[in-house]
Order: sequence, then structure tokens, then C-alpha cells
Amino acid sequence: MHKIKKITTESPEYQSVLLLRDLVLRKPLGMNLFDENLEGDKEEIIFGIFNENEEALASVQFKILDNLSVKLRQMAVHPEHQKKGLGKSLVQFAEQQVKNLGYKKIEMHARKTAIPFYEKLGYKKEGEEFMEVGIPHYKMCKEL
Ligand SMILES: CC(C)(COP(=O)(O)OP(=O)(O)OC[C@H]1O[C@@H](n2cnc3c(N)ncnc32)[C@H](O)[C@@H]1OP(=O)(O)O)[C@@H](O)C(=O)NCCC(=O)NCCS
Repeated sequence: MHKIKKITTESPEYQSVLLLRDLVLRKPLGMNLFDENLEGDKEEIIFGIFNENEEALASVQFKILDNLSVKLRQMAVHPEHQKKGLGKSLVQFAEQQVKNLGYKKIEMHARKTAIPFYEKLGYKKEGEEFMEVGIPHYKMCKEL
């Protein structure tokens, strides 16, 4: 059975989240997540979907911008588990939790390839295309 939950950088599952982020979001770009400064993760709100071995199948995290808004970052679903609804379930779960914490707005820098995924979840593009980690992105926002 898959479990969807909030974790912290102290949780045993955190290492599995890092491996997933590296596999899905960095290796395909020829980058290594572990070259980055990950200290900021301590201040972020992290969610994941885990299998029975506590391995991360999907993860996402939120950086607190101010009292009302958070930035969705590092959304990743394991390649063997994409397009099965895990990403959608995780974002919907995380949105509810973030809303319960009092935040009113989510923004993000979305990869162009993932825009239709976020549009289906109610996010709207804002402004022009820009480059980040060498690939095209758009700013997207959603009011909770
Ligand atoms: C993009 C990603 C997070 C989506 O997660 P997922 O679990 O594969 O998506 P889901 O199965 O929950 O899809 C939900 C809906 O979005 C659609 N969708 C998902 N990814 C899509 C894509 N890349 N292009 C178009 N539609 C997409 C699905 O078809 C589904 O539509 P439906 O509700 O009409 O059936 C995941 O594929 C992924 O990790 N991709 C690689 C890394 C990445 O791009 N991360 C986002 C960085 S901003």
C-alpha cells in the first residue's frame, strides 16, 4: 500500500526523497542534486508518497515566501509510476495541508513540459517563458 504523508529533513524517508529528486529532476539534465546546498530543505514543508519499503514514489515541497504564500518546488514522480495519478493526488493532498496551515496562495516555476499537468490542477501561467536549470519554465500560481 502507498502512504501519502508530510515528512521533515529529520525523517528516515528524507534520503529516499533526495534520491528521487536526483533521479527525476537532476540526472536527466546531467546535474547532481548532491552538488547543491540542501540546507534550505530544513525550512520547507515536504510531502511524499511512499511504498511499503518507505521508498519515495513521488515528492513535492514548499518554500515559505511570506505569511500568505508558498512556492511549490521539486515536484517529482518516479518514472515507473508516472501518469497513474500519483502526482495529482500528491499535489491535492499537499494543497489541503498548506491551506490548513493558513497559506492562501501557491506559486511556482513550472517546467514547460509539465504545464498541462498543473493547468489540470487549476494553476494559471503568469508572464513570459524564462530559462532555469537550462530548460524553459513559466511562473504559475493558484489561490487556495
Ligand atoms: C509532471 C509530473 C509531476 C506529473 O505527475 P504524474 O503522476 O505523472 O501525473 P498524473 O498521473 O497525476 O496526471 C494528472 C493529469 O495530468 C496529465 N499529465 C501529467 N503529466 C503530463 C504531461 N507531462 N503533459 C501533459 N499532461 C500531463 C495526466 O494525463 C492526467 O490527466 P487526466 O487527469 O486528464 O487523466 C511527473 O510526470 C514528473 O515527475 N515528470 C518529470 C519531472 C517534472 O517535470 N516535474 C515537474 C517539474 S515543474
